Parts: sequence; C-alpha cells; structure tokens
Amino acid sequence: MTHVIITGGSSGIGLALARFYASRGARISLLARTLPLLEAAHAVLAKSGNADAIHVESADVADEGQIGAAIARCEEAFGPCDILITCAGIVQPGLFEAVSPDAFNRQLQTNLFGSIHAVRSVYAGMKQRRAGRIMLVSSGAGLIGIYGYTAYSASKFALHGFAEALRSEARPHGVKISVCFPPDTETPQFIRELEHRPLEAAVIMGRVAPWTSDAVAGRIARAIDRGRFEVFFGWTLWALGRFGSTAKPFLNWWFDRAILRIGRSR
Ligand SMILES: NC(=O)c1ccc[n+]([C@@H]2O[C@H](COP(=O)([O-])OP(=O)(O)OC[C@H]3O[C@@H](n4cnc5c(N)ncnc54)[C@H](OP(=O)(O)O)[C@@H]3O)[C@@H](O)[C@H]2O)c1
Repeated sequence: MTHVIITGGSSGIGLALARFYASRGARISLLARTLPLLEAAHAVLAKSGNADAIHVESADVADEGQIGAAIARCEEAFGPCDILITCAGIVQPGLFEAVSPDAFNRQLQTNLFGSIHAVRSVYAGMKQRRAGRIMLVSSGAGLIGIYGYTAYSASKFALHGFAEALRSEARPHGVKISVCFPPDTETPQFIRELEHRPLEAAVIMGRVAPWTSDAVAGRIARAIDRGRFEVFFGWTLWALGRFGSTAKPFLNWWFDRAILRIGRSR
C-alpha cells in the first residue's frame, strides 16, 4: 500500500491532499504542529476511509531534529515513504521594513528549510530503494515577486531553485522531484492572509476567484502520478512559469504604474 507523508496535512491544501489519497486507499501520515487540528483531520479522514491507515505526528518542520524523528516514526508505522508532499507553510504579508526580522526568518525557516528538512529525512531511503516521489509546494508568489511578500516570495522562489537542482541529482536514482505553484486557494491560511494583504498586492493580483483546495489537491496528485516536474494552475501562472523571463519586465512595468497610482490617491 502506498505510504504518503504530507507535512501541513492537518489543514487546507494538505488536508485536501490527504482526502484525495485516502479515497485511493493509501496509507497517510500527516505532520503539523497543532495536535488537536491533527486529531480533527484524523477523525474526518477516518469517517471516509480506514482509520488504521492514518498516522499523525505533531512536529515543527523548522526544527530538523523534530521533523526527522517524526518522519522516522511515520516510516516505522507504515513503512518507507513512497510520496512526500511538503505542504507546511506560512505567510505574513507586510512591507519589508514593517515585518519583524523574527517574522521574516520564520517564513524562510518554515517554507524553505522546513521543506528541505523533510526532504532530507526521506531522500536517502528513496535513493536506496530507487523509488520515490517528492512534491514541493511553492506558490504563484514563487514565480513573480509580489509587493508586500518579500519573505514569502523569497522562500517560495528558493524552493523552485532547490527543486530544480535536486531534480537533476535525483533522476538517475529513480527519485522524481516536482514543484507546484498554487494560486490563491480557499484555505484557512488564505483567509488570514487576506486581512493583511496590502492594497497594492490586491490590485496587482487582480480579482481572480480563488481555487478550491480540492481542485488544487487533485491537480497536484495527478501531476505526481505523471511524474511532472513543474505544476501550474491556470493559464496566467502557466505563462509566467514558461515565459517569465520575457514577460516579467512588462508585468513589473505595469505593476509599478498601478502601485504609483495607488500611492498618489492616498
Ligand atoms: N492558500 C493559498 O492561497 C496558497 C497559495 C499558494 C501556495 N500556498 C501554499 O500551500 C501550502 C498550504 O497552505 P494552506 O493555504 O493550505 O495553509 P493552511 O490551511 O494554513 O495549512 C498550513 C498547514 O501547515 C502546517 N504548518 C504551518 N507551519 C508549520 C510548521 N512550522 N511545522 C509543521 N507544520 C506547519 C499547519 O498546521 P500547524 O499550524 O498546526 O502547524 C497546517 O497544517 C503552504 O505552503 C502555502 O504557502 C497556499
């Protein structure tokens, strides 16, 4: 039975992924910090499937020791990890100088290093078995820098570079690395984020309706099935991913004008 480990599996996109794999009869390990949220996720998944096929671990991905030990316990419970999805992530929008150094670092520690720590915990085993799939969850803000998202964009851009370099190392050993760039998605994080999203960012990003977490999860899981490296959502992010270096000077020119107009109207 496939063993899927999902960091950030207690909420939002991670929980939707867990629902998806539960419907396929996989064994699922969920990792996040808040135990009651994990237990609630366990209860929801147990209703629609096999409770014995769900394992939860409370751990902070930013702490390499904690996440390593937690993933080792998941593998003891359900066997080697076949699929790792690093979905744990946080966002705290705000102008660069308004975000405290602690809050800035926390986003990098969670989104970037938290993903790397989780990958390190399963990678050697996958290489040895010459099998395994790893999906790193970046963001649309990992394709273009967004006003008010310096820490978040930095962490999500860096994940792309990490994924690209690791992909070429892992491929000869039968391990497939992927990275996805979700758009705005209806999740608890998105609701919290909107309260702090600067007006400039809201104008730049436009009024595109957010995706549902089930739609995002379904696309991620199908991309893992097909061994796709990069996963985009919607034609705008696809075009940005494929033709970003050509399109970004024009987009940034347009963004700058919009930001100036907002500044003048204040
Ligand atoms: N929603 C969007 O619009 C959107 C768009 C693009 C990309 N994304 C990315 O998609 C991923 C999931 O986001 P979401 O919107 O589904 O968020 P969410 O509903 O807030 O879920 C985040 C999950 O990550 C866990 N988590 C956060 N910090 C953690 C830490 N230090 N250690 C372990 N687990 C941690 C949370 O549980 P605890 O807090 O209990 O630890 C929770 O399970 C994130 O990487 C996010 O950046 C989201």
